[in-house]
Amino acid sequence: MGPPGAGKGTQAQVVAARYNIPAISTGDIFRKNVSEGTELGLEAKRFMDAGEYVPDSVTNLMVRNRIDEEDAAKGFLLDGYPRTLAQVDELDGMIAFTGHKLDAVVVLAVDSEELVRRLTARAETEGRTDDTEDVIRRRQEVYAEQTEPLIEVYRGHGILLEIDGAGEVDEVTGRIFDALDEIQES
Ligand code: AP5
Ligand code: MG
Repeated sequence: MGPPGAGKGTQAQVVAARYNIPAISTGDIFRKNVSEGTELGLEAKRFMDAGEYVPDSVTNLMVRNRIDEEDAAKGFLLDGYPRTLAQVDELDGMIAFTGHKLDAVVVLAVDSEELVRRLTARAETEGRTDDTEDVIRRRQEVYAEQTEPLIEVYRGHGILLEIDGAGEVDEVTGRIFDALDEIQES
């Protein structure tokens, strides 16, 4: 978890590689569908371009199908899911069915000025249609309203790892690995 630009996608790749599991990014799956012009992509695009969340019903079904794939059988890392309280409940139901359990929820904390710096820099190179000033602001609001409350939920479950997301990519990775190693030992 973490606000837009916190480094979820960047760190997800490295962490998933370390555990030899797939990194499942709902944002990436939506963007792939948009670029391929699928029905799901068309549905998702209008929400994404406005900085709003895609409806839970659409997102939940997509994740359910993805974690049913063979490569996720021995575990997986979710990037950007769950993001709403309804998604938390839905995920609990999915993994009760597949026999997985959540080992950890990593939340990356980065101050808002740095977030805007990262996303405006990315806008110049990658051209993501939601990396405009207005939409970045809306994505931050939606995160604060709908996703930040999940931090307390997972703290209550005792699986929350709060990581300082500032500094070099490698430094942040080191902090995440250390925190994950600690729960593995305990
Ligand atoms: P999503 O794709 O998840 O976007 P996001 O949450 O806005 O986050 P970003 O991908 O922009 O940032 P990130 O935290 O991954 O950071 P990154 O590593 O890229 O979601 C997009 C949209 O899809 C949503 O708005 C919604 O519409 C929809 N959606 C997705 N999931 C959904 C769900 N569950 N329910 C409903 N709707 C959903 O890093 C950002 C930049 O900073 C990069 O350029 C990177 O190179 C750079 N960077 C990373 N780390 C560092 C560092 N340590 N120092 C300097 N630069 C860094
Ligand atoms: Mg991302």
